[in-house]
Amino acid sequence: MLREAFVISDVLDKEEFDLGKDYFINHPTLRKSLLPTNALFVEYSKSGANLPPHFDANACTYTIDLCFYESHQWPLWVENTEFKYSENEAVCFFGEEQMHWRETLYEDNIKIGLGFFHYVEPTHWYFTEGPSYVETVRNDYRSKGYSYNRTNNTGMAPLGG
Ligand SMILES: [Fe+2]
Repeated sequence: MLREAFVISDVLDKEEFDLGKDYFINHPTLRKSLLPTNALFVEYSKSGANLPPHFDANACTYTIDLCFYESHQWPLWVENTEFKYSENEAVCFFGEEQMHWRETLYEDNIKIGLGFFHYVEPTHWYFTEGPSYVETVRNDYRSKGYSYNRTNNTGMAPLGG
């Protein structure tokens, strides 16, 4: 299989890009301290897609949830706030501390592509203990009555949630 690198131009609208650039380049704390941990792309394509209420466990203190494409609008709830966002828009939240979920989407011909970008402080366990420490964190979640999120093996869902 031939693998080639490629460039995607104009991922963000120029005005939006400049806003983001100014925010991060001038921020007194974020640009000095935040470190990336992991990122993933997910496509939802089945009727009945769902995301039960959960916290994330896999080094996701700061989560940027970016919509690449969406056949249907599928709002993200963070605590008690509904975020309706569209292609090329992102919701920023604290994945480890703020419960988040989506309502079940009973539509046909779903095609929703999302990117998740995760960052932590340098003192986070991901860097002080190492990525494999996630198992200890998961055990701690379990002891507190949380179980794994079925649709995202990096996430945790409350039992019965
Ligand atoms: Fe999550």
